[in-house]
Amino acid sequence: MSRTRTSDVLVVGGGIIGLVTAWRAAQRGLTTAVVDPEPGGGAAQVAAGMLAAVTELHYGEQTLLRLNLESARRYPDFAAELTGVTGLDLGYRQCGTLAVALDADDRAHLRELHALQRQSGLESEWLNGRECRRLEPILAPGVRGGLRVDGDHQIDPRRLARALVVACERAGVVFHRVRAERLTLVRERAAGVRTADGTDLTAGRVVLAAGSMSGQLAGVPDHLLPPVRPVKGQVVRLTVPKRYAPFLNRTVRAVVRGSRVYLVPRENGELVVGATSEELGWDTTVTAGGVYELLRDAHELIPGITELPLTETRAGLRPGSPDNAPLLGPTECEGLLLATGHYRNGVLLTPVTGDVMAHALTTGELPEEARDFTPRRFGAAVLMEQPA
Ligand code: GLY
Repeated sequence: MSRTRTSDVLVVGGGIIGLVTAWRAAQRGLTTAVVDPEPGGGAAQVAAGMLAAVTELHYGEQTLLRLNLESARRYPDFAAELTGVTGLDLGYRQCGTLAVALDADDRAHLRELHALQRQSGLESEWLNGRECRRLEPILAPGVRGGLRVDGDHQIDPRRLARALVVACERAGVVFHRVRAERLTLVRERAAGVRTADGTDLTAGRVVLAAGSMSGQLAGVPDHLLPPVRPVKGQVVRLTVPKRYAPFLNRTVRAVVRGSRVYLVPRENGELVVGATSEELGWDTTVTAGGVYELLRDAHELIPGITELPLTETRAGLRPGSPDNAPLLGPTECEGLLLATGHYRNGVLLTPVTGDVMAHALTTGELPEEARDFTPRRFGAAVLMEQPA
């Protein structure tokens, strides 16, 4: 592959958000490069891959909901195109989700979520415990009710990341497998990066898409550093032996005595149980407590999980932003764009992010559906509120 050091677009960060940005930019005829020591790595290697616009709805996130729903709407075509280009199966599964409650408090929480979903015009059906078990017979007898959301699906983020690397390669994206150390500014305009091995990569536009690390790139003026912080998530992977299949037919999730847990069953037998949410800086230690809590809560929902082989434990860092929504598009620094801060929704927002960033890179403007997510919505006051 060519080692060209100059491109129209240089994407800092080769996680799924950086990769989809690079792929879409290259498809629009822009010469594009990605700088990352390990393209396809990052939080996608840990994430469960729920596409849960409806079941992960929170009060105060109605604006984000619109973007989430728009990305969910684009997913079938996006997945088909990516598979068509690469020949790779993404594990995209239109299986729906069941959110259940075990005790009265959890049931009240779920009732509130249901009311919010209905106010927001979303499709979600309340089921009693028996109806939940009819859908998922291995649920514990204590499940008292649940929400059936047939529109919340899943994809395998590891396969998605791999396919995006291949799609980028096929589209002519150049990979610089090294760490970006410092943004280069020429007359206050972003003009490239200096890498950890001392190479200068130059570009017409630089897209900072480094996930939770996006606020750490040297050379970015302090007042423009994205207000992104790491939010740790620990995840457990189990394997469902063929003799137990189908173990679960859809994603099952719950708030068990106040703590959130979800179980995402893949067609290949993998069962992902996640995820903790911890504000511990850059720590990615898998702890006994984190794994214990996940398995304890999952076991309350589905006692049969104790029979399954435990195949992996892992922790990753979500890129949290002050309003839990992404930062997309041009910044006050000419030539510098952001695609970061996707927090809990990076996998879900991958299709729309690619489209929005390609539009911004070719026109200089955000398309209508992404205008609320401009990085310019954050001022100095917000930056000061970030946890240390
Ligand atoms: N969206 C799932 C999570 O952030 O854990």
